[in-house]
Amino acid sequence: MKKALMLSLCAVLASSAFAATDPVSARQDIFKQFKKDAAAMGKMVKSDAINKEEFSKLAAHLDAIAQQPWQHFPAGTASGQAARKTDAKAEIWSKPAEWTKAADAFKAETAKLKQIAAAGDTASIKNQFGAVQKSCKSCHDAFRKD
Ligand code: HEC
Repeated sequence: MKKALMLSLCAVLASSAFAATDPVSARQDIFKQFKKDAAAMGKMVKSDAINKEEFSKLAAHLDAIAQQPWQHFPAGTASGQAARKTDAKAEIWSKPAEWTKAADAFKAETAKLKQIAAAGDTASIKNQFGAVQKSCKSCHDAFRKD
């Protein structure tokens, strides 16, 4: 019984260690959090019921994690190259300046959203949320397979 428990614990530890070191799952996990934050904010924007405290927290969280995925794109992890399934297009590596520009543009928009969310005014919050969504989409159009 004890041995079985130890063995299953080891299996759990081994699989989470793998997930943490694999760059494809590391970046995909962060993008999943982007989606979660954006969906929660989008729901408030759509229903015209922005809870500013809640929205501010989400905007700050999104801005914090907006810094993170880009370190997990080592060479050799494009779609078709990596051991795991990935939607990363080869253009990420063949057009590095444009890739960096897209990530920087996104980070600038999330920083602005965080600032505007804290300052308050609903119309500006909505506008800026739209700008963030646009920067997700324009990067996906160029660098993610659909
Ligand atoms: C600078 C480029 C860029 C920006 C900006 C960006 N993404 Fe992505 N996103 C990618 C790439 C590349 C992938 C594919 C990653 C992979 O499969 O390895 C991806 C994958 C995803 C995925 C799929 C993750 C999975 O489960 O495999 C989601 C969801 C996602 N992005 C949401 C967002 C949202 C929401 C935003 C904006 C708030 C955003 N992304 C901004 C480039 C970007």
